[in-house]
Amino acid sequence: MSDTSTAFAPASIGNLGVGFDMLGLALTGVGDRVTARRGRDGVRIADVFDPSGEPHPVLSRDPGRNTASIAARALWQAHGDGGGIELEIHKGVPLQSGMGSSAASAVAGAVAVNALLEDPLPTRDLLPFALEGERYASGGIHADNVAPSLLGGMVLCPPALLPNAIPLRTPEGVSAVLVHPELKVHTADARRSLAESVSRQQWIDQQGYLAGFLTACAYGDLDLMRATLKDIVIEPQRAASVPCFPAIRDAALDAGALGVSLSGSGPSVFALVATGLAGELALAMETACGAQGVECQSWVSPMTAPGARLEH
Ligand code: HSE
Repeated sequence: MSDTSTAFAPASIGNLGVGFDMLGLALTGVGDRVTARRGRDGVRIADVFDPSGEPHPVLSRDPGRNTASIAARALWQAHGDGGGIELEIHKGVPLQSGMGSSAASAVAGAVAVNALLEDPLPTRDLLPFALEGERYASGGIHADNVAPSLLGGMVLCPPALLPNAIPLRTPEGVSAVLVHPELKVHTADARRSLAESVSRQQWIDQQGYLAGFLTACAYGDLDLMRATLKDIVIEPQRAASVPCFPAIRDAALDAGALGVSLSGSGPSVFALVATGLAGELALAMETACGAQGVECQSWVSPMTAPGARLEH
């Protein structure tokens, strides 16, 4: 049994527009890294670093207020040997970005600590522990960031079925493009202002889009994807909090996107697109964002991005 372990967990799109709180997609090229070492007295945070390797200016070192340590502590209390754990957290995912930043830390914390257990759990059994971190961050249990960050690819994880999370088939030759405008949206705040109810017609239509989208992914039917990657309930309520969203969306659709929406509560905007068009699409979305006076960064990712991994 090792005394130290390091885990990486990717950022994610959650939700993936059409499946509010229940459909997420892992991303490549950006994520959080957590090192866990045996230490003294419970689960503590030794350090938190920002993406440039400097001490993080915002995130707390209080283990009760960081999703990595909350997830790690939940796992260690349930399965640890009573010794202590010290965490070092390297943030790669921008905060309040709609890219599953809190989920990536929670997943990396759980995966790193799992490797220090005498009998490590199977990866999918870490979901409930990582979700404890998400509960702290967003005030509820929804796994659409945590599940893809842990398991990779596209995952269906309706709250009613948790802790079940269902990895889904994705079509070949389709990529995700995510543009992160340099704005911040606090997910818990954004959720508080959502309407509590929808009309029967909205309910029927949104169910149809989700069922159609999942079918389109399973069969690789890009025309059906284009017709169904829609969020008629939540996106209209949130669009105003990301003023550059309509310009980015229109640019993405003009450049051939199969669909485009906010990633989670935003401000990030994602599009799905035939892989051959992905580079061009990212550029078009970035240019549209820049034209609104907002700096941004983008990532292109396959729909089969791997989930969390143990690095050593
Ligand atoms: N699906 C959530 C939301 C975000 O859009 O509020 C992360 O679970």
